[in-house]
Amino acid sequence: MKISVSFLSCKNVPIALKKLNDTDADYIHVDVMDGKFVPNKTMPFREMRNIYKYTDKRLDVHLMVEGPKKYIPLYAELNTEFITFHVEVMDDIEECLELIKSYGIKCGLAVKPNTPVKRLVPYLPLLDLILVMSVEPGAGGQTFISSSRDKIKELRALLNSYHSKAFISVDGGINKEVKESCQECDILTVGSYVTNAEMFQPQIDNLR
Ligand code: DX5
Ligand code: ZN
Repeated sequence: MKISVSFLSCKNVPIALKKLNDTDADYIHVDVMDGKFVPNKTMPFREMRNIYKYTDKRLDVHLMVEGPKKYIPLYAELNTEFITFHVEVMDDIEECLELIKSYGIKCGLAVKPNTPVKRLVPYLPLLDLILVMSVEPGAGGQTFISSSRDKIKELRALLNSYHSKAFISVDGGINKEVKESCQECDILTVGSYVTNAEMFQPQIDNLR
């Protein structure tokens, strides 16, 4: 199981990123919020771009924004493995996926808890990653929604039936107790369970 760690709930981001760099986390999950798609807002790109000063890990960018198109070229500049945006956005989804791919970056679509996985079907041939939100997007530290377990299973069956090789990632409320509900995923995206602890590596070990 791969682990992608979000620093959304960290008070001191540079210190958290340096600590994460010393773990075996696979990716740094970069949550981007615009105050429109979700009520909260994260730091602007001119600050976010400094991530490279503190970690050389690959970035897993999660755009929780209404219009992802204008964010894609910015985050494509960084050490980025995946750019994921939401299937519920206003912009043209296919155009945004193609734009991500044009930078040689893997593209993903995220689904909110109440969005059915069948909404992803038209885009499956283009997708490298699907991010299943197991909390309402917008904040770290929430409780895993238990019905996400069935949703992940349904998505795995859907991907198999379309011969899609897209990875499944789950994001929100992940900890040692709920990881059993996520065995069909390829990536666990985790925030507070890791970053609220003094020592990050033992928490990551508990999830593998
Ligand atoms: C929620 C974010 C998540 C979040 C994960 O909107 O997309 O990435 O930071 O944090 P935890 O693991 O604390 O739910
Ligand atoms: Zn996220």
